Amino acid sequence: MAAEREMGEPQVFDAMRLEVFRVITMGIAGFDAPVAQNSMEEAAAALSSLAFLYRLYETPLSRKDKALFASTVKVLNNGIRYLRTNRDFNSFDRMAFITRFGNPSSALIYRSARLLGMAPLSFRRPLRSDAETLFESEAFDPDYYTASMDARSTKEKVALGKRLFYDPVLSGNGKRSCATCHDPSKAFTDGLPKSPTISGNRFVRRNTPTVLNAGLQSALFYDNRATYLEDQATDVISNKDEMHGSLPDAVERLKRDANYSSLFKAAFPGPGEPVSDYHLRNAIGSYIRSLTSLNSPFDKYVRGDKSQLTAGEVRGFNLYMGKAKCGTCHFAPLFNGNVPPDFTETETEVIGVPLSASSGKIDTDKGKYDLRKLELYRDAFRTPTVRNIALTAPYMHNGIYKTLEEVLDFYNKGGGSGLGISLANQTLPFDHLQLSPREQKDIIAFLKKLSDTSAVGR
Ligand code: HEC
Ligand code: HEC
Repeated sequence: MAAEREMGEPQVFDAMRLEVFRVITMGIAGFDAPVAQNSMEEAAAALSSLAFLYRLYETPLSRKDKALFASTVKVLNNGIRYLRTNRDFNSFDRMAFITRFGNPSSALIYRSARLLGMAPLSFRRPLRSDAETLFESEAFDPDYYTASMDARSTKEKVALGKRLFYDPVLSGNGKRSCATCHDPSKAFTDGLPKSPTISGNRFVRRNTPTVLNAGLQSALFYDNRATYLEDQATDVISNKDEMHGSLPDAVERLKRDANYSSLFKAAFPGPGEPVSDYHLRNAIGSYIRSLTSLNSPFDKYVRGDKSQLTAGEVRGFNLYMGKAKCGTCHFAPLFNGNVPPDFTETETEVIGVPLSASSGKIDTDKGKYDLRKLELYRDAFRTPTVRNIALTAPYMHNGIYKTLEEVLDFYNKGGGSGLGISLANQTLPFDHLQLSPREQKDIIAFLKKLSDTSAVGR
């Protein structure tokens, strides 16, 4: 495994593909050069060095498949030319670039490596090294985000975890399950700004996020306070407002249940007591990791099915990745804060969400700062995914916006600063985005094509 991480030829081919992924997710989105807007030139330079490297393999590749070598060079060169002739940041057609040049070049470089007899790299990472493009439905490996080898998912763990997710047995009063707030019919949210506490006389601290694709993050919760889904379950079950349960009590109850005992035994056949605190958390974590699904109309379109999006929706994607800057925080293709192309760091940002939709005051929830008093963390919240966003209203950590139109209006004005809130450390660009009503409509139309709830029925 260590040897695999060294720089050999398979790693060179892999690095070329990662560079393509970087260009299509960050480069053309203006992540590196948000002000100068010379992103297209930089992206062209990155692809040129890649093409140079690829051409070094001309002899061995042409010997095996002349046509493959020639078409790879051609696609790379055409991509570079496209970037050089369409330099205007706002009007650049990202969708055309990705589908005509980005995806074909990563797939052709992949095939070239196989042709030269190189196997895909075998060490585990979030983005599977055998995914031809960044947009394959199985491109990501949620098991990467587990603490150890034995935490990885199996069919039996997922089945047990699913049952536990829907079972009120975990809560202190036996009346609440995970699904009370994470309701599968609402893409695992509850439609409320904030859920009532278990005692019913107050509300929990934050809006309920979806758990669809929640496994594809390197940190969890709005303040990134948990690293692994296994830790997240402890937090929720023992939280006196959410479930007011105790894991040791839940474990005792489950041990007395013959049905659960046998499910635990099947899921954890190793030595030791099958019904344990850790096994319970690992089963629920495995179930959530199984709720990964990247087959929205958008995904199908980038894979080549042009019938999936209208011209307006494609314009919406281009604005999202360009003029509106959304893609510099909600990164494609997961559309969350998990940074490509490594996907090992989930970012928090300061955008300045106010206390209420009509208020010019910042929320009293300070996000990450409430955990660690560093100025940098004041009002910093994890960038959530916008996959399934059409189904998970209301929005933001405090659930203040009821519609995507309100969210777009917030961004168009420049976030919290634009609303007159004084924020020293806002990471969202301050400038008015100047999106026309039609542009805002197009972005929303695109966001609505990020829905895929097929994992609910699993
Ligand atoms: C009372 C409603 C409620 C119940 C019950 C509940 N959750 Fe949550 N869940 C929330 C809220 C609110 C958050 C966000 C909290 C935060 O970010 O501080 C959350 C966050 C999460 C997250 C993190 C998602 C992300 O993207 O960071 C996961 C995973 C999760 N819950 C799973 C579960 C599981 C599993 C259970 C059952 C053991 C459960 N929840 C029970 C309300 C609830
Ligand atoms: C500087 C980084 C950044 C940029 C740029 C950005 N976002 Fe966000 N977005 C965030 C963060 C952080 C949150 C969570 C904030 C909170 O809850 O306080 C968020 C929340 C959201 C939500 C609510 C998600 C939910 O589940 O409640 C939507 C929708 C959204 N953003 C869409 C967009 C769109 C559309 C754009 C482009 C117009 C955009 N974002 C640009 C960082 C960013």
